[in-house]
Amino acid sequence: MAMTVQDKISVQKASNTRINEIDFENLVFGKDFSDHMFECDFKNGSWQNPIIRPYGDLTISPSAKVFHYGQAVFEGMKAYKDDNGKVFLFRPDENQERINKSSKRLAIPEFPKELFFEALNKLLKLDEDWVKPGIGNSLYIRPFVIATQPGVSASPSDEYKFMIILSPVNVYYSGDVKVEIAEHYSRSANGGVGAAKAAGNYGAQFYPTNLARERGFQQVIWTDANEHKYLEEAGTMNVFFRINDTLITAPTSDRILDGITRKSIIALAERDGVPVEVRPVEVSELIEAAKNGSLKEIFGAGTAAVVSPVNAFGYKKEVYDLPSTAGGYSAKFKKALTDIQYNRSEDPFGWRYEI
Ligand SMILES: Cc1ncc(COP(=O)(O)O)c(C=O)c1O
Repeated sequence: MAMTVQDKISVQKASNTRINEIDFENLVFGKDFSDHMFECDFKNGSWQNPIIRPYGDLTISPSAKVFHYGQAVFEGMKAYKDDNGKVFLFRPDENQERINKSSKRLAIPEFPKELFFEALNKLLKLDEDWVKPGIGNSLYIRPFVIATQPGVSASPSDEYKFMIILSPVNVYYSGDVKVEIAEHYSRSANGGVGAAKAAGNYGAQFYPTNLARERGFQQVIWTDANEHKYLEEAGTMNVFFRINDTLITAPTSDRILDGITRKSIIALAERDGVPVEVRPVEVSELIEAAKNGSLKEIFGAGTAAVVSPVNAFGYKKEVYDLPSTAGGYSAKFKKALTDIQYNRSEDPFGWRYEI
């Protein structure tokens, strides 16, 4: 499909900032949004009318295809501010590539790379006061694409809207994280859309995750849809297991999101000489390791949650507690990652991108 961009980004500034209404000490993840947003439409075969304007509601036909067939994909990124007020992104080229990969899977036209970066830079410069310094503070960036063509025929839309909105955040999960290993429901299947950040992947997890919540778990660790035998990933995080001193994570596939935090942790582990195995992990191996004491840590990894240690996991009505993770791999990799993200350490892999 055509990927031409017809216009330069126009900018309509907000007359007032809302920043003083925000309680930055007590943010609820993804609740508040910055002053501006980016918007660009796909019509007649090309992306056009890119605009940055005050954050606000959209007017969309109730028959727009996104509401009926779920043609919607998104990304999750963060902007970090160092102690000198410089703003950085972390491996944004990966998000740019991934949203187009997701789009392709959902029959959505790809969004031009150059415009993606121009929009991000302009928007973040305009709203840079919304990025607060200090480890844990960041501005969550949500690029997304929705099908806007009116009409309820079940076919791909001819019209789309690409947007970027920004939300100030701090920690995602606080307190204990207990996960339940899926035995019945599935997140994705071979040949499906699991590897895409398709909106429907998330909506479909809410019901089984609610059931797990009723049993006292915050998250589900999904297993393969065929046999529920292999551990795959959590709702918004890839998962790592530490058995003795080896770090183990499942290989990505068309069922698992190719997480940027995951691949960064693998690179850091390899650099630091931590033994890493990327291979299918059987639930039975985890249970065995939990029972014989060789399971030292489980942690989730993702942009929103950064590195999130798991305190306990449930499987077939049994709960397995994990040892305290102080000083473990999760703390080590969280520090290594955030030091790079907040410009507190060298960046040997070239992951930082300055705005
Ligand atoms: C299903 C799923 N897995 C893993 C991740 C982690 O990916 P990343 O590290 O790129 O944020 C996310 C979050 O983006 C996710 O939604």
